[in-house]
Amino acid sequence: MVFVVDLYRNTKIKEEIESKKIEKVTMDKFYQAFTDGVIMATNFSNLLEAEGYGTVFLGSILNNSQKIIELLNLPKFTFPIVAIGYGYSDGSETKKKPKMDKDLRVFTDSYKILPSYLEAFKEYDEIFYKYYEENNRDYLETFTNKAAKSIDMGLIERDEMLKVIRSQGFDLKV
Ligand SMILES: Cc1cc2nc3c(=O)[nH]c(=O)nc-3n(C[C@H](O)[C@H](O)[C@H](O)COP(=O)(O)O)c2cc1C
Repeated sequence: MVFVVDLYRNTKIKEEIESKKIEKVTMDKFYQAFTDGVIMATNFSNLLEAEGYGTVFLGSILNNSQKIIELLNLPKFTFPIVAIGYGYSDGSETKKKPKMDKDLRVFTDSYKILPSYLEAFKEYDEIFYKYYEENNRDYLETFTNKAAKSIDMGLIERDEMLKVIRSQGFDLKV
């Protein structure tokens, strides 16, 4: 299931009412529709899980947005943001990955900057490593190592994403 920013329909309605062509839609509208799509995807995932399916969010559809646009015949003023793959489990048990302490990610009143992140995540690093040691040695790594690597891990096609968003008719104003 692919979730799509869809400003095409409303743009067409306005074009029919005013009998004139719309060339651009603002990024504000894009972000509104983006958030709508993400909320919808989350609800859809919760619904499926409640019905006994397993789900996985697929940000990988952004690896080549243009290809997805062509594949799904997405018109101007639309953009695919996230997908959900779903199905029944093969029955094998998967253990839930332990989450980091809430204090490390939920702050009250203002953002909490920590003096040392390696120090603060020392305990979670051990828990995280142990989880992968016991469950999936392919991903064996500490949380902090994984986090550091993820910062500049990317694909050239993702660098092109804003260009694709612009060519879909959204006004980046940059
Ligand atoms: C926005 C988003 C995009 C994701 N994209 C992918 C993806 O492309 N491929 C994939 O296998 N999993 C993807 N995932 C799933 C994550 O890799 C992970 O399995 C899931 O978020 C559960 O995380 P947890 O094990 O840390 O709780 C994505 C998750 C999120 C939230």
